Order: sequence, then C-alpha cells, then structure tokens
Amino acid sequence: MSNTIVVGAQWGDEGKGKIVDFITEQADLVVRAAGGSNAGHTVINNGIKYILHLIPSGILWEDKLCVIGNGVVLDPFGILEEMAKLRSQGVKITAENLKISETAHLVMPYHKALDHAREAKRGDKKIGTTGRGIGPAYADKIERGGLRAVLLTQPDVLEVELRERIIQHNETIVAAGIEAVPVEETVQKVLAAAKELAPHITNTAVVCHEAIQAGKNLLFEGAQGTYLDIDHGTYPFVTSSNTTSGGACTGSGVPPRMIDKVVAVCKAYTTRVGSGPFITENDDIGDMLHNMGREFGATTGRARRCGWLDAVMVRYAVMINGADELAITNLDGLDGLEEIKICNAYKLRGEVIHYPPSTIADIEACEPIYESHQGWKKDLSQIKNFADLPDLAKAYLKRVEELTGARISLLGIGPSRDQTLVV
Ligand code: GDP
Ligand code: IMO
Ligand code: MG
Repeated sequence: MSNTIVVGAQWGDEGKGKIVDFITEQADLVVRAAGGSNAGHTVINNGIKYILHLIPSGILWEDKLCVIGNGVVLDPFGILEEMAKLRSQGVKITAENLKISETAHLVMPYHKALDHAREAKRGDKKIGTTGRGIGPAYADKIERGGLRAVLLTQPDVLEVELRERIIQHNETIVAAGIEAVPVEETVQKVLAAAKELAPHITNTAVVCHEAIQAGKNLLFEGAQGTYLDIDHGTYPFVTSSNTTSGGACTGSGVPPRMIDKVVAVCKAYTTRVGSGPFITENDDIGDMLHNMGREFGATTGRARRCGWLDAVMVRYAVMINGADELAITNLDGLDGLEEIKICNAYKLRGEVIHYPPSTIADIEACEPIYESHQGWKKDLSQIKNFADLPDLAKAYLKRVEELTGARISLLGIGPSRDQTLVV
C-alpha cells in the first residue's frame, strides 16, 4: 500500500468506517486526525455491528496500531465508554495498540453544556450539532485556553487547571440560564478517567514518523465530510475542524509530501444530518430509504435527510481533497428505482454554474439541473465481482466518474465487510 487518506466527499456518513475497515487489511497504522465523538463510523463484520466514535476503526483488526492524533478533540469519558463497549464485543484495546496524542485537546463537561446552550440560543437557526461539545472545545483550543491530553499524565497540574476552567466556564453557563457544572465532582471524575487513559498518551507524531521510517503504511481515517469542513463546507452549518485531506496532515504531524493517495468516500446518493442547505434533497428518496430501515445517524439516531447524488459537490470535493479515487458506497440503496437522477449543474438566478456557491443564500437559491438514468431494478447485495453488475449500474458509475473526474476504485453494495467490491 502507501500512506493513504480517506475522506468524506459529502456531509459525513458516507460509509468511511466501512471503507477504512476494508483498506485496513493493507495498513499497519490507522490514524484519526480530526473531529471527536461527533463521528459515528459503522463497521459490520460476521454479523456484529461496531460503532466507532473516537477510536480508529483499525482497532477491529488485531495487530494494527491505532493513533488518535493531535487534531482530534478527546472526550475522556466518551472514549472510556467506547473502549468498554468495544471490549464487551471482544475487541482488544491496550496501551500498545491505541496511542493518544499528548497535544490533542480535551472535551470537558462544560463544553457539552455550552454546545447545548449555544444551540438553544440559535433557535431556528440552530446547526443541529451532535451535542458532543465539539464547537466549544475547538473554540477553546483556537482561543488558546484549552486543556491538552498530556495533562492526563500530570494529575497535580490537571487538578488545578481544570478547577480553574470549570469555574471560569460556569460563569458563561449560568449566564445562559443552564445548570452549572459541579466543580469538585467533575474534577474527581476527570482525575479518575485520567488514570485509565494516561498509559495511552504519547507523542503520536513521533509514533507516525517512526512507522514511516520503518516502511509501514499509514491510513488516515477521515471524520465528517468535505461540506462539514470549517473552511470549505456550508458554513456556518459545519463542524469546527478541517475535515478535508489537509486536516489529516495538520492533525497528525505527518507532512503532505509523505501522503501518497487520497480516497474520497461518497454515497451513490446524498445524505445530511443536521441543518443547512441541501440542493438535491428529496423526501421521496428519504421515505424509501427510511422505510428500508436505513439512514439513521450512528451517533444521535436522527433520521438523515436524503436526496439525489450531487455531482457538482462531489467534483468540487475531489478537487479540494486532491482525491485520486472514489469509493462509492450504498449503491444497493438505489436498487428498487425505476429512474435515477444525478445533479450535474446548478441554475443560480438564470445562470448555469458548475461549482457550489460560497454563501448559504446563494446555495439556497440554486436549482438542481438533473440528468436521468434508467434504474437496474435488481438486488445488488449478493454480487461478488464488479464484472457481474448489471450494465445499467455500470453505466451509472461510469457517468459518476465522468462527472466527478475521479476513478471509482471501491464499491459498496451492502453494509458488511464482505460487501465491498474492488473495481
Ligand atoms: P461513516 O460515518 O462515514 O463511517 O458512515 P456511517 O457509518 O455513519 O453511515 C454509513 C451507513 O451506511 C452505515 O449504516 C453503514 O453500515 C452503511 N453502509 C456503508 N456502506 C454501505 C453499502 O455499501 N451498502 C449498504 N446497504 N450500507 C452501507
Ligand atoms: P461522521 O464521521 C454526519 C454534523 C452535525 C451538525 C454539524 C455540526 O460519522 O461522518 P458538531 O457536533 O460537529 O458541532 O455538529 O455537523 N456532523 C456530522 N454529520 N456525520 C458526522 O460524522 C458528523 N459529525 C458532525 O450533524 O450538522
Ligand atoms: Mg457517521
């Protein structure tokens, strides 16, 4: 293999977990470099469903090293809960196979309280966050007031710094009319969590570089998606980190020139969870997928909004991420359709455009221009080889390649590890 970044090409939940899990077979190290427990990555293997939030999905493979990089915001309670759940499912997690960056910032209970308070204040302009404290934690990091994971190895310093931060944040929390975070109780709980997590904390940039020097292959597991990126997404309806490929470098300390390949994961249609514009949104597709029991959030359980594939967005995502390859997932979700549409341009105030506009007002003013494709109307989920796909499905995929400018290398036709076809 080579050092590969996997990113989402849409609004998250593209099936990155499943694709990363598939590629992990050829990797030695799997790295998360951005986001926090807002992510929910589903991997299904041998009928067991695993949901990863903070821990790289490489943990499901024995003998792979997993790294939580400096760009991640780490919820100590969230990760301990996740470890417990995975262990109960038979997954081995030790200080040897899971390393956490010293410089990752901590998500604390006051961040979650602030996340809820800020959403409540936004009223009908709310972002629809996952409520995991992500925005406030990154805000503290950028504002230079955050606490970093290295403090989990220094309980004496942690205790003093944390107490000070809780008291300070409680002023804002109380002013917002919500209940203050209990100071001593929280300090004691975080100290207890610190004891459990301390053995995992290290300089993960060094871990990554040593692995590269030893000729190992690194796989970066993207979280969220291109249009949730703080810079390139549909701001302000985005998350608070760089979810695009550049974020994998800044969030891990592995420089761009050591990256060999970028794979963008993309559903054969589009989904979005949370608020914000969605040009190709279509309730009929949503109803169809929800009736099949699909498209409910892995983190919050919310029903995802659904729509046709937006090739304008995906082409732009391919450009921003420098994606060499596309992994198309959930092609089987379109199995029952007579007609399948793809949006290949937008009409904005009478003008045809081929890239997503930068303001919410302009995106909302865009009308999708669709092309129509005949559906294959066959169950794809049991197909074992790409060659055996119906011609109409192959034609659909070929058109996606033409419109997006990237080669399709992997194809998902079902949620299980063995329902991925190499193209
Ligand atoms: P992630 O956040 O990008 O890892 O994606 P999620 O796990 O949140 O959401 C993707 C959903 O699609 C999960 O329920 C997966 O099990 C499911 N999934 C992924 N690939 C496929 C596929 O090719 N076909 C089907 N039917 N389901 C898939
Ligand atoms: P994965 O890694 C889908 C969305 C939220 C909300 C916005 C901001 O599973 O693809 P936040 O809690 O980050 O402040 O919420 O971003 N969001 C996601 N949507 N998949 C995700 O992660 C997401 N992580 C955040 O729904 O609209
Ligand atoms: Mg998800």
